[in-house]
Amino acid sequence: MSDDGLSRRQYLSTVGGTAVTVSLAGCFGGGGGNGGDGSTEITAGTAPGFPPFEMKQDGELVGFDIDLLEAVVDETDYTLAGWEEFEFKSLIPALTNENIDVVAAGMTINDERDETIDFTDPYYSSNQAIVVREDGDFSPTSLSDLSGRAIGAQKGTTGESTIQSELIEPGNLDESNYNSYGNYVLAVEDLQNGNIDAVVIDEPVAQTFAAQRPVNIAFTYETGENFGFGVRDGDDEFTQALNDGLSTVRDGSTYQDLTNKWFGQQ
Ligand code: ARG
Repeated sequence: MSDDGLSRRQYLSTVGGTAVTVSLAGCFGGGGGNGGDGSTEITAGTAPGFPPFEMKQDGELVGFDIDLLEAVVDETDYTLAGWEEFEFKSLIPALTNENIDVVAAGMTINDERDETIDFTDPYYSSNQAIVVREDGDFSPTSLSDLSGRAIGAQKGTTGESTIQSELIEPGNLDESNYNSYGNYVLAVEDLQNGNIDAVVIDEPVAQTFAAQRPVNIAFTYETGENFGFGVRDGDDEFTQALNDGLSTVRDGSTYQDLTNKWFGQQ
């Protein structure tokens, strides 16, 4: 379960900045077509490069979010027509523009996003982790130790907001020391290459990178984030259906099975 099989070039050409349609049973972008059996078709959007939630494996989009959303939609009267891939920061615009109908991308529920979109009930919790090179001599134990160092995160994420609000705004880090990336794989590669000294990233994803690459979690920073599926404001019937589907999947064995599958062996 890694992006390791993809070179940076292949990765970029796959993800790029624009949407790539990976699989479409029927070509309905947003708004919903007809599933053939009368069900409404919906299209999901994600941002791969965030293992084990979503990543490309041999060209295929896989991960916990992919399996979980598919299991949840299976419990509803909707049909998942397919997945589209975006950079993380383009997901909310894609949702509001009706290019997609739901976001499954380890997206943290927060007030700022809640002003533009809605979220389902939470399905996973996370804090931020600070990742460093395994063989390096830099072993920070708190955010203030990051002062004066080159730090990276993915554009538009809560990792980036943590750097902004906890380091740059209080004057502990110069803006020029912050490097933002289109995805976290590129950030971690730059860390491995020695171009930056630390990456701020969601803890479960940090654990996955640490298991697959020569990087370590130096420390974690408690943010108490909850991930939810992003839906359009006002799409209340659909949101309710997803919430019902989510609780069914949680009550049965599916949620636990998927957790074991994607987070089990690290
Ligand atoms: N949880 C963080 C956020 O919501 C990071 C999510 C990044 N997700 C991704 N698929 N790249 O901002």
